Amino acid sequence: MTTLGKVEKTALVTGASSGFGLRIAVELAKRGYRVVAAMRDPRKQVALMQEAERVGAAGRIEVAQLDVTDAATIEAAVSDMLRSYGRIDVLVNNAGMAVGGFVEEVPMAAWRAQTETNFLGLVAMTRAVLPAMRAKGGGTIIQMSSVSGLWGIPGFGAYAASKFAVEGFSESLRHEVAPFGIRVALVEPGAYRTAIWAKGFADIHAQPDSPYAGALQAVLRMARRTADTAPDPREVAELVGRLADKRRLSRLRYPIGRGARLLPLAVRLLPWRLVEAATRRAMRGRN
Ligand SMILES: NC(=O)c1ccc[n+]([C@@H]2O[C@H](COP(=O)([O-])OP(=O)(O)OC[C@H]3O[C@@H](n4cnc5c(N)ncnc54)[C@H](OP(=O)(O)O)[C@@H]3O)[C@@H](O)[C@H]2O)c1
Repeated sequence: MTTLGKVEKTALVTGASSGFGLRIAVELAKRGYRVVAAMRDPRKQVALMQEAERVGAAGRIEVAQLDVTDAATIEAAVSDMLRSYGRIDVLVNNAGMAVGGFVEEVPMAAWRAQTETNFLGLVAMTRAVLPAMRAKGGGTIIQMSSVSGLWGIPGFGAYAASKFAVEGFSESLRHEVAPFGIRVALVEPGAYRTAIWAKGFADIHAQPDSPYAGALQAVLRMARRTADTAPDPREVAELVGRLADKRRLSRLRYPIGRGARLLPLAVRLLPWRLVEAATRRAMRGRN
């Protein structure tokens, strides 16, 4: 049981209805945290609670309604949690979605939705918990970034931009809050088998007679191949659990998944023309 003296540690996880978020909520509960599993639509909690029951952790999870683009729901969930438990030890900023389409063809409304969810939602969540973390002298904020926070590929410019923003924000944040004992980490997964892919494929932005049609099809073929063979998201949840438990987070970035450890080195150390050539080759791929 993760306790602080007699006090149970608490964790708030956004986007806990599916994918990484569901598994992270269960993993933290298994580790003894009192978990508030936040989701836009609490009717989607069935899969989460079944999994929590299966591992005997359901008693440590409660569901809260929270849309990261809706300030009132953030404020209500955070203040309810503080009223119930008096503390927020861990925030996992996991909620996210992926807008697909070439820059010219993604409508501004979709750019805004992408930014509002993946970046400004994460900023709002972080700002909402900082006063309580400072007041109790510490806490851990884990940001679900992506390899797309380091590496922009065609067809996912909006998604990459949102994750690059998360990376820069978190670099600055870490300096600002370290003096208050607040730890910040970026988890940078490669591709994992979650619903984000199907949701993204179902909502690709492409104009009829698009000049990008051929290139978009090639990117989508690559993305589908990647999604079909992607590993189980559980290992990302286990990494988040380990980070939550650590007293110190000596690193800012925690890449995980196929190629995710090599990619940061490649984009920082290789001449950019080689990175671009490899990216284009990967995008062309096989049919
Ligand atoms: N899967 C991958 O390959 C991969 C790789 C790198 C990074 N990531 C990142 O991992 C995070 C989780 O994604 P996932 O792969 O687990 O996909 P997922 O299964 O689609 O889960 C995304 C979660 O975010 C929630 N969400 C979306 N918009 C929200 C909003 N406005 N407010 C609150 N919750 C919202 C979704 O809720 P609903 O059920 O209501 O839609 C869902 O619970 C994302 O930040 C994603 O960018 C994923």
